[in-house]
Amino acid sequence: MKKIKRREFMRTTGVAGLSLATAKPGVGGFPNILVPGIKPLVISSSNGNSFKNGGDVTAVQKAFTMITQGADVLDAVIAGVNIVELDPLDDSVGYGGLPNADGVVQLDACCMHGPKKRAGGVAALEGVRTPSLVAKAVMENTDHHLLVGKGAQEFARNMGFKIEDDLNTENSRRKWLEWKRKIDPAHYLDPKKRAEAGRRATLEMLAEGRIREENLHGTINCNGINSKGEVCGVTTTSGLSWKMPGRVGDSPILGAGLYVDGEVGAVGSTGRGEANLYGLCSFLIVEEMRRGRHPKDAGMEALRRIKANTYEKRLLKRDGNPNFYVRFYILNARGEYAGVAMYDLNDNGKKATFAICDENGPQNVPFDSLMQGKHSE
Ligand code: GLY
Repeated sequence: MKKIKRREFMRTTGVAGLSLATAKPGVGGFPNILVPGIKPLVISSSNGNSFKNGGDVTAVQKAFTMITQGADVLDAVIAGVNIVELDPLDDSVGYGGLPNADGVVQLDACCMHGPKKRAGGVAALEGVRTPSLVAKAVMENTDHHLLVGKGAQEFARNMGFKIEDDLNTENSRRKWLEWKRKIDPAHYLDPKKRAEAGRRATLEMLAEGRIREENLHGTINCNGINSKGEVCGVTTTSGLSWKMPGRVGDSPILGAGLYVDGEVGAVGSTGRGEANLYGLCSFLIVEEMRRGRHPKDAGMEALRRIKANTYEKRLLKRDGNPNFYVRFYILNARGEYAGVAMYDLNDNGKKATFAICDENGPQNVPFDSLMQGKHSE
């Protein structure tokens, strides 16, 4: 991965030489964006600072640069996640995202514009590499928030998006075939046994390192703020790997996978969507921040709520704690932020991180976590 030096990044974003806290509007060719007090910032899941789709910058770098150059914050964060959606090396979202149980890539996304108080979403969309842009088109061109399945695809076609027969890459198809081989459905006519075999095959593939744990519920959430305090966010995903066709998780659902209130802040999630949906935790976190809580404390409240709501044995480890992860990316309208996670480690034993980009360039930051260790055992 080619690293951009801090000096080069400062030069290309135009932030070099400016004190954000003191610069006046119009200074340095960035009209009206450098108001004292609020520093522009972008926060995302870690894949927002891992993939470049053959280019020079990651999602958070792209979004931050656009924000500091005066772009609309929603346009900026969507341009950022487009890099990951289009990157064939990332199998968590968009083109090459891991497919459903039938081998079909079905994508979910939603976006929300703080100042405009508008949102749009798509679910179970097939054939379009950038569902985040279709979500934005729903927001801008319809009276609705959420379009799904064939209807979403027809809408995308009518809006001029290219519809492809198959969004699998060689990588995503190979992984699906391996999963299929492991579950061998001919020998599992009983749906319960088949479901158990599917779960076992997924765990085996995780243990073998064939799929990354973050990509099992692979998603990117990206939220941004400019120096005017305008906040926007987007979440996009291929959802749960090998999911039941038609399954939709939290990502495209307002209040769950994403929620933005222009006066309060923006929150998005990755991880087990079903757990997040029960508490609509992005909304919950925004409401906690509205009551004055810091992003970290608001996020911890949501994680505690998810933990308390998880009591089915199949979702618990031997120690009684959840056997899945959920993570939130939180930004308030003052530019304060937090990344919070159920557990501090990834399945590979390494510290789990989220990504930010500010005037110091992009970096990966360890989460504040509710519990120590891994979600698996
Ligand atoms: N959080 C992504 C999903 O569960 O689909």
